[in-house]
Amino acid sequence: MLLDTLLGWFSTDMGIDLGTCTTLVCVRDKGIVLNEPSVVAVRKGTNIVLNNGEAVGLVAREMLGKTPGSISAIRPLKDGVISDFEITEAMLSYFIRKVHGKGGKLVRPRVVISVPSGITAVERRAVIDSAERAGARKVYLVDEPMAAGMGAGLPIIDPTASMIVDIGGGTTEVAIMSLGDIATCESIRIGGDDMDESIINHLKRTYNLLIGEMRAEKVKIQIGSAAPLEEELTMEVAGRDTISGLPRKIVITSEEIREALKEPVAAIIEAVSRTLEKAAPELAADLIDNGIHICGGGALLRGMDRVLANATGLRVEIVDDPLSAVAKGTSIYLDNLELLKETMDHSDYGWE
Ligand SMILES: Nc1ncnc2c1ncn2[C@@H]1O[C@H](COP(=O)(O)OP(=O)(O)OP(=O)(O)O)[C@@H](O)[C@H]1O
Ligand SMILES: [Mg+2]
Repeated sequence: MLLDTLLGWFSTDMGIDLGTCTTLVCVRDKGIVLNEPSVVAVRKGTNIVLNNGEAVGLVAREMLGKTPGSISAIRPLKDGVISDFEITEAMLSYFIRKVHGKGGKLVRPRVVISVPSGITAVERRAVIDSAERAGARKVYLVDEPMAAGMGAGLPIIDPTASMIVDIGGGTTEVAIMSLGDIATCESIRIGGDDMDESIINHLKRTYNLLIGEMRAEKVKIQIGSAAPLEEELTMEVAGRDTISGLPRKIVITSEEIREALKEPVAAIIEAVSRTLEKAAPELAADLIDNGIHICGGGALLRGMDRVLANATGLRVEIVDDPLSAVAKGTSIYLDNLELLKETMDHSDYGWE
């Protein structure tokens, strides 16, 4: 116990946004110190992480989709929650060590980790266990929309409504917050990954062209949109012909990709509308002035703000730095743990 306390002294406490696509670590006074894909490369059929436990993050992402038979690159989170416990632990442990640099094996930091608001108690427990086994001395969980609101500088503690839509890789979190708590929320397991999947399916169906996840994501970022563009775009994309089996290149347009993205985009709009319908009248009224704030990678999809504004009649704003709002928020909570206390069921969230 004494040793534990001593090791704590030498540890840097961290705020962690453990995302389906990306993990970010934020440290007091330093800001975001780590931003890497949530990917781990292992020897196939085992949980042995390659390169002595170091094939994690950027290194492992390079291997995704290109791995030879004996290696698999795993994304241990799916739909915002841990799907592979041991690999998540290996990943967190590597990231914690990396942030600490030399002597990282001995540190015992306190960490605040963000989790989707819709996850179960068992899923929450899994995050806490993973982080503890990865070396954390104390783990606190915060709901993602609260962290996003805090990180974006919204007045979530005040007696007025703030609304956040966080469109991540695996989940979209929609929440209306007031007085430091979530008043109404909805978490759907649809996000950027589903958009990539829709693009893959479209190309397969329309052109018999097979492309990988990374290429689909490139298409989405380069020409994807949720609403018509002033100037529509085109792009060349290469893949494998499903009939001849040979490599082939085609040119695709932003119009057809928008059509392909319709379903996930519509699901996000519906979640936002449903959340607004559930809101108490007083809070709904606040939103006429305060508007909706969107963040997460999906907020960067062209026209996403416009379609949401059209559907709701409210002002929609993309927060500054939409990809790091959650991580920044976790680190603000780290400095203000008492804010978490008020809104938490202690047994669920790691309080003693
Ligand atoms: N410019 C862009 N246009 C459209 N989508 C983008 C853009 N940039 C990133 N994305 C997408 O955003 C998603 C990643 O967002 P983010 O980092 O917020 O997710 P995450 O936090 O890892 O996931 P989750 O919160 O669901 O666990 C990916 O699907 C990525 O392709
Ligand atoms: Mg996220």
